[in-house]
Amino acid sequence: MKAYITAVAHYVPPDVYDNHWFSTFLDTSDEWIRERTGIRERRFLREGATSDMIVPAAREVLAQRAMQPSDIDCIIVCTVTPDQFFPSTAANVQRKLGATNAWGFDLNAACSGFVYGLWVAAKLIEAGGARNVLLCGADKMSSIINFEDRTTCVLFGDGAGVVLLEPGDDEAYGVQDAIIRMDGEGGQYLYMPAGGSLRPPSYETVANKEHYVFQDGQTVFKAAVVGMAEVSAEIMERNGLSAETVAWLVPHQANLRIIDATARRMGLSKDKVMVNIDRYGNTTAATIPICLSELYQAGKLHRGDNIILASFGAGYTWGSLWLRWAIERTQV
Ligand code: ACO
Repeated sequence: MKAYITAVAHYVPPDVYDNHWFSTFLDTSDEWIRERTGIRERRFLREGATSDMIVPAAREVLAQRAMQPSDIDCIIVCTVTPDQFFPSTAANVQRKLGATNAWGFDLNAACSGFVYGLWVAAKLIEAGGARNVLLCGADKMSSIINFEDRTTCVLFGDGAGVVLLEPGDDEAYGVQDAIIRMDGEGGQYLYMPAGGSLRPPSYETVANKEHYVFQDGQTVFKAAVVGMAEVSAEIMERNGLSAETVAWLVPHQANLRIIDATARRMGLSKDKVMVNIDRYGNTTAATIPICLSELYQAGKLHRGDNIILASFGAGYTWGSLWLRWAIERTQV
């Protein structure tokens, strides 16, 4: 048995902020942001929480399969911006959807959340621990970025992507293989200093703006270029995949230069690489499922397509996952 993605949808907030908007209050420019990152605009959620972006995408996923919320038996929410520390955002999604038969949990692997989550969900299904799993990658990054810090605030956006996973009998389709890595030594280069048990919130932590993303961009950039490219090349090699037999690279959208380096290492031409960072920026755990959803909506995913997902993020966490697309859009 393998786990098939049988439905996919996304939600992005309607309010668009282009690069020029930042230059009205920060020493930055459209040119700098575009050339260094590939980002032109991003969307920020004005009101509501991460679960409020997940729920509309989840409803769309259920509609694609003509399923009821009660058909879901597990909800996994990959996020670094949960609605609250607890209860889990998965519990909030369960309540808002009315998915009364579902258990679930949140998973924190930053930008690698969706790759981690997909591997966990696939193994859960293969082991018979769940049948219909709602896997959500979502982040409201605007809630944890410091709009006075030009080195981080221009990079991120808000959004959610949701897939439904179901068991499938033909083992040639669905989630096939993954290489998943972590190196806690990287934690010091990309983190939120306060808010957790190490530095609980205080007047001091708020005054020092410690409840925001801190990133040593150059150090993370160098690690990401090497890490994402290496695991993506390795997963191709060990599964006998080539540039010809891979249909799509769906990479985490943190920086266009990191994406290009990964594609080059895999020997893939640009037309096989999904890119939407220009429109959404880095939505952390949501980038990969949003990409999958847009490809699917555009009719660009076909049964049997070899797809490589690749990510790199805080932790460090990184990984690459190979799946063979199992459905045709006309079936839904
Ligand atoms: N506008 C104008 N100038 C800027 C801006 C800005 N928004 N931001 C930084 N600069 C300046 C810097 O101050 C620096 O100026 P200086 O030379 O006078 O000191 C100069 O531009 C170069 O800065 P660098 O940090 O060296 O720029 P770099 O080319 O490395 O790009 C970036 C920065 C885009 C952040 C890049 O390093 C990057 O993409 N890093 C990796 C991001 C990533 O993959 N993160 C992991 C996922 S996120 C997650 O897991 C939550």
